[in-house]
Formats: sequence, C-alpha cells, structure tokens
Amino acid sequence: MSGRRPLISGNWKMHHDHLEALHMVRDLGLRLKTDDVALVDVSLHPPFTDLRTVQTLVEKEGIPVSLGAQHCSDEDAGARTGEISPHMLARLGTAYVIVGHSERRTMFAMSDITVAATLKAVLRHEMTPIVCVGETEEERMASHTEARLEEQVLAAVEGLSPEVIGRVVFAYEPLWAIGTGQAATPVDAEDACVFIRSMVGKVAGGPVAATIRIQYGGSVQAENAGELMAEPDIDGLLVGGASLQAASFLDIIRACGACYRF
Ligand code: 13P
Repeated sequence: MSGRRPLISGNWKMHHDHLEALHMVRDLGLRLKTDDVALVDVSLHPPFTDLRTVQTLVEKEGIPVSLGAQHCSDEDAGARTGEISPHMLARLGTAYVIVGHSERRTMFAMSDITVAATLKAVLRHEMTPIVCVGETEEERMASHTEARLEEQVLAAVEGLSPEVIGRVVFAYEPLWAIGTGQAATPVDAEDACVFIRSMVGKVAGGPVAATIRIQYGGSVQAENAGELMAEPDIDGLLVGGASLQAASFLDIIRACGACYRF
C-alpha cells in the first residue's frame, strides 16, 4: 500500500448538455454506495455549461463526488473572450481542474508555458490541478517517451516550491491511447508513472514525490481498470468515454476500490 488515496476522474470532454448531465449524475448518485468511495476519491469534469447544475445536484443530494473542470484561463479576469477564469470555478466549489490535456495542447495550441501559468492560477485559487502529460505515437516509436515526459513535467512545475508541487496531481495520458480502445499495458503505464515520479523527485525531493498522486488515462474501461490500479505507482484513473454513463463509470470506481481492499 502506497498510502496515496486513489483518485478516479471522469472527463466528459464535449459531451452531455446540462439536462443529460442531470440524468447522469442523478443515476450515479442512486447507484453509488458509501462503501464505493470509502477508499477512493471521485471527481466529475463536465463541460462548463453543466457545472452549476452538477454542483447544485451533488450538494443537494449529498453525492460523494467532487466537482472538476476540464480547463481554465491562467488569468483571474480580463478581456479574454470565451475563457473561464479559475476564480469563477473556485466560486462554484470546483475542487479539481484538468490542466494541459493533450486535446488542449494539440487542438488549441496550449504550450508548456501556458500549462505552467494555468497550473499556478489553479493553485492560487486553492484548487487541485490535474496536469496531463504524455507522448505521441511517433515519440513512442522513436523511444522519446521519457524525454517528452521530462520536458512536460519540468516545464509545468518550474519555479514552484516542493510544498506546492506536493499539491499537484499528474495524469499520464499517452496520446495514442486516448479514445482508441488501445490502452497502455499496466507495465508500460507503471513505468511511465515511475518515471514521472522520479522527475518530481528531482525537483521537489523524494518525500514529496512519494506523496503525489499520478493517474493513468487512455481507453480505461471496467475490464482494464483493476489491472492498471494494481500497479504500485498508478494512483488513479482519468477516464473519458467510459465516464459518460453512470453504470460504466461506477464499474471502474468499484474495480479500483477492490484493489485497495486487500
Ligand atoms: P478515453 O478514456 O475516452 O480514451 O479518454 C481519455 C482521456 O483523454 C481522459 O482525459
């Protein structure tokens, strides 16, 4: 046992309008038992337009999940048409914010510099950033996985104190595994998480590296969740497609909880 409490996060991406969100979270709330979350933290990351609806429902019904966002601006306010500020998310009771998801990096040109600035903005508002790192298929084939991970991890936490770095969650999401049905093998995912932890150790020291949580993401399903979570350095899962339905997401939460019961 690592002593790190696993975090299972559902990234809905651009799916579910606020009414569909209401149905999904209500369904999840009815199915979720106290026992399911006794040893596991769960966060939901709906689109911005659903956040208020999900927040209200979760609070009213006492559903034991945390509110998460998928992205935010690195500024608190200003002339930034279309952006959402971390201050606004914090006011809604958002606990976690995904920072630098590969879809933001590739489709919206989010650079390592913007990732680092966004990470700082999220921390400034006392929320927990989930920083995504991962290599492309080409980088993997060229044996550049570790070089890419090192670059992304070090750029994200540059200038932060070890104490602050200890508040960051990392997610290893290889791009070739996202939405493809081809998840990393548990051994490959574990190796990458061990490497990410060693990079954190390099800048923040061994004790901090030993406490931070590192998730795996990319084609996680109920069928592979247990074997991934059984690896000692994988402390949670960042789930896309399989988090959209209450039943499949709950199966993943339970598979994860089961690993931590023996
Ligand atoms: P899938 O689980 O749909 O592969 O998505 C992974 C992901 O990108 C989560 O952030």
